[in-house]
Amino acid sequence: MRLCTFLTMASATLLASCTADGAGPDTSASSAQADPLYVRDVMQDEVNPAIVAIWDVTNNAYNDDGELDSSLITAAQWHSMAEQAGLLAAIGDRMAAASELHAASEGNWATGEYEVPMDQVQANLDADPQGYRDMSARFAALSRNVAAAASAMDLQAATDLVGQMDSECAACHQEYWYAEQ
Ligand code: HEC
Repeated sequence: MRLCTFLTMASATLLASCTADGAGPDTSASSAQADPLYVRDVMQDEVNPAIVAIWDVTNNAYNDDGELDSSLITAAQWHSMAEQAGLLAAIGDRMAAASELHAASEGNWATGEYEVPMDQVQANLDADPQGYRDMSARFAALSRNVAAAASAMDLQAATDLVGQMDSECAACHQEYWYAEQ
C-alpha cells in the first residue's frame, strides 16, 4: 500500500511535468483533472498499479482445493482492495469526463517495434471519442461495485466483479488500442 501511495504521487508529478512542457493547454496540473487526458500515461501510472494491487488480493483468495476462502483475506487486504477500486472508479470518471483525449503525453509518444503506434491509437480515439467516454463510465460503475463488494467483504461478488473488469479492460483495448491489428 505504501508503494501504491508512492506511485500515485509519482504520477501526479509526472502529469505536472507533462503539462508544464507545453504538451497540452495547461491549467494548473493535477492528476485529478480530466482535461487533457493522456490515456497511455493514465494506464501506466494509475490503472495498472491499482488493478495489480487488486489482483494481488483476489489471486491469493483460493485455498489448496482451489476454492474461494475469505479467511485467507486480511482486513488490511479488503481495505486495500476497496481503496484501489475507488481509485479506479475515480480514474474512470475522469476519463468519462475528458473532452480532450490524447493517446499519450508528448514525451510518452514513442513506441517499440511491436507496439501499436500512438498515432494509430489517436486515430482510434478521434474516430469515436464518445464511445471511449461511455466505456470509461461503465468501467467506473464496475469499479464502484468492486469497492462496495470489498467493503462488504463479499469475496464471491468481488471476484466475479473483478473478472468482469478484466473483460472491460479487454473490450476497450480491442476497440481503441488493437483496432487495426
Ligand atoms: C475506456 C478504455 C480503456 C479501459 C477501460 C482500459 N484501458 Fe488500458 N488502454 C486503453 C488504450 C486506448 C490504450 C492504448 C494506449 C497505449 O498504448 O498505452 C491502453 C493501454 C494500456 C496499457 C499499455 C500501456 C503502455 O505501456 O503503452 C496497459 C498496461 C493498460 N492499458 C492496462 C489496463 C487495465 C489493466 C485495464 C483494466 C483494469 C485497462 N487498461 C482498462 C484504454 C482503456
